[in-house]
Amino acid sequence: MTDPVLSVRGLVIDFTGRPGRRALVQDVDFDVSRGQSVALIGESGCGKTLTSLAVLGLLPPRMRVSAGSITLGGVDVLSAGERTLRGLRGRTIGAIFQEPMSSLNPTMTVGDQIGESRRMHLGESRRTARARAVELLDRVGIPNAATRARAYPHEMSGGMQQRVMIAAAIACEPAVVLADEPTTALDATVQADILTLLEDLRRDLGLGVLLVTHDLGVVADFCADVVVMYAGHVVERASAKKLFHAPRHPYTEALLRAVPQAGHARTTLNVIPGRVPAGGALPTGCRFRPRCSYAEPCCAEPQLGAVNDDAHFTFCDRVAAGELVLGSRS
Ligand SMILES: Nc1ncnc2c1ncn2[C@@H]1O[C@H](COP(=O)(O)OP(=O)(O)OP(=O)(O)O)[C@@H](O)[C@H]1O
Ligand SMILES: [Mg+2]
Repeated sequence: MTDPVLSVRGLVIDFTGRPGRRALVQDVDFDVSRGQSVALIGESGCGKTLTSLAVLGLLPPRMRVSAGSITLGGVDVLSAGERTLRGLRGRTIGAIFQEPMSSLNPTMTVGDQIGESRRMHLGESRRTARARAVELLDRVGIPNAATRARAYPHEMSGGMQQRVMIAAAIACEPAVVLADEPTTALDATVQADILTLLEDLRRDLGLGVLLVTHDLGVVADFCADVVVMYAGHVVERASAKKLFHAPRHPYTEALLRAVPQAGHARTTLNVIPGRVPAGGALPTGCRFRPRCSYAEPCCAEPQLGAVNDDAHFTFCDRVAAGELVLGSRS
């Protein structure tokens, strides 16, 4: 694997002006290299989007990174000024969000929007940028790209709008693309088409892909590596193969058990009892312990976690010490 293009270390995100409150995102570590697809997974409210926004230097008001580092293409995101950040967004990292209509400009043709990014970042002429936009629309599977480039976003279906977003995200040949729930708003067939497109781009262009999702089926089909988050912590990080075959953290095991198994005549889903704690009510130590069927009093102590066996990280000290081995999936 090449050097990571995106590197997140010890990331802590909290509210400004709320001393003493536990951070919403705590000690998050992961890397994405060119050509690597990494999934960021976890239930709703686990901090996936906050982590993604921090990577883009776009945290909402009242949120701040209070510790850790984020490096994108060798640049320190946290100390970068707005001008540097604008350069990074587009040139080094492209972003795709769930709702294309909230990211696309309704008053500009899709061709002009894609072209504008090339004009701004690469200094291309309007004419060259427009021609490149048509090529990009063609590349992301939009039929009659030359004609469709003159359409406005509202004249396109949701799936086509998401293809336009992808074309815009890769317009300036970034090294990595961050896609936060890019297909949640789309129906199942279109969802598979969009993910296949991202996978083709990863392979053909050597793009790094950070895919935020809560859909484990998507992860199994499209991602090589997985970062599992729970209530702001990374609880497990491993290759998808290891994680699906032998999860080590009780939360990952519970997530996997909650997925219906293809080919199994299971009528009810296992659900994880309880819910992700809200920002103000985070337990000490392991944040999953109130919902964990293996919990012991020692889990209230701060966890260090450990990396064992070829980069498999588990944020459970009993697992790391070999005291807790999860049951096999059944
Ligand atoms: N702008 C905000 N103001 C206050 N709290 C916020 C804000 N954005 C997120 N949070 C809180 O931070 C935590 C993490 O939220 P985040 O949006 O990162 O979750 P997520 O993992 O992306 O969830 P989902 O799967 O629903 O998108 C949650 O407890 C959420 O309520
Ligand atoms: Mg989110």
